[in-house]
Amino acid sequence: MTRRAVALGVGHYLPERVVENAWFEDFLDTSDEWIRTRSGIERRHFAAEGETTSDLALRAAQAALDDAGLTADDIDCILVATSTPDLTFPSVGTMVQSRLGMTRGFAFDVQAVCAGFVYALCNANALIVAGQAERVLVIGAETFSRIMDWEDRSTCVLFGDGAGALILGAETGRGTKEDRGILATDLNSDGRYRDMLFVDGGVSTTGTAGKLRMQGNQLFRQAVEKLTSTAETSLEKAGILGSEVDWIVPHQANIRIIQGTARKMGVPMNRVILTVQDHGNTSAASIPLALSVGVAEERIKRGDIVLSEAIGGGLAWGSVVLRW
Ligand code: ACO
Repeated sequence: MTRRAVALGVGHYLPERVVENAWFEDFLDTSDEWIRTRSGIERRHFAAEGETTSDLALRAAQAALDDAGLTADDIDCILVATSTPDLTFPSVGTMVQSRLGMTRGFAFDVQAVCAGFVYALCNANALIVAGQAERVLVIGAETFSRIMDWEDRSTCVLFGDGAGALILGAETGRGTKEDRGILATDLNSDGRYRDMLFVDGGVSTTGTAGKLRMQGNQLFRQAVEKLTSTAETSLEKAGILGSEVDWIVPHQANIRIIQGTARKMGVPMNRVILTVQDHGNTSAASIPLALSVGVAEERIKRGDIVLSEAIGGGLAWGSVVLRW
């Protein structure tokens, strides 16, 4: 008998404001054509003035609770993956906890930039397997529009705001790959690459939030190789072949990275959930957003093998294999 962290419900929230690529043409030397062909992005959502990461996280959490048929009383841990918290502290997790009316359990944030949701899932899985929690609400929520340099065409056209949430619950499995739930995880980081993607401000340096800086083409080269390698490691740990993967639900940074990784793994693009065209790169929110869209469209079904992989600032990268 093996304790497994099984998906009970999923949901998402996107801010109302949708910004098409053409919007950037008014103030930047860029074009819809460049953004579309180099990144696959067509539009993204931006949070309204005053709308915060915890606002988005709360809406996604409520959608996931509804989907699972649960209430906040059924949750004993909230884990929020974000690099754009409302405040330096307290955590977005505790803000969501209080707004859901939860007065028990525990909540905290995980910061691993675009790999944040994969890191949060691995942590949630470990908490459940260790018996520290029975039901964990795992949220990825970001307002990257707040850390954009609107004069830097190489970054500000790529990111968007949003949130997704997944509820994991403890169930007993047989310990085989036929079990539902998280079957394997793999996490990595290498701080030598910190200059490839960082924010140029912070509490103990400038005292400001800073703006995002990225060496996109160098990161691109690292991404396909590292994502393929972590995906292969997770699949091997789970005893699952690439041909058995029903859905890749990747971090949505660039369609060319997603295509390159799927090609290297031998998985056709019709088995990849793609949302980058509509959401842009929402950092830690992109995987739960894509999961939620894939389930809502009735593509991801109970029993399917789902592989998620992500890479982001740090560099930090990793993957999760689960049976939905
Ligand atoms: N519009 C028009 N031209 C542009 C734009 C733009 N918005 N941005 C850059 N260019 C120009 C550049 O200036 C450059 O011009 P030059 O050749 O005259 O110097 C040319 O386009 C090519 O630039 P590259 O950066 O080489 O373009 P590339 O094909 O690599 O695409 C991109 C850039 C989309 C950023 C890509 O490199 C990428 O997606 N990188 C990875 C991003 C990623 O995975 N991030 C990780 C997660 S993010 C996170 O953790 C927060």
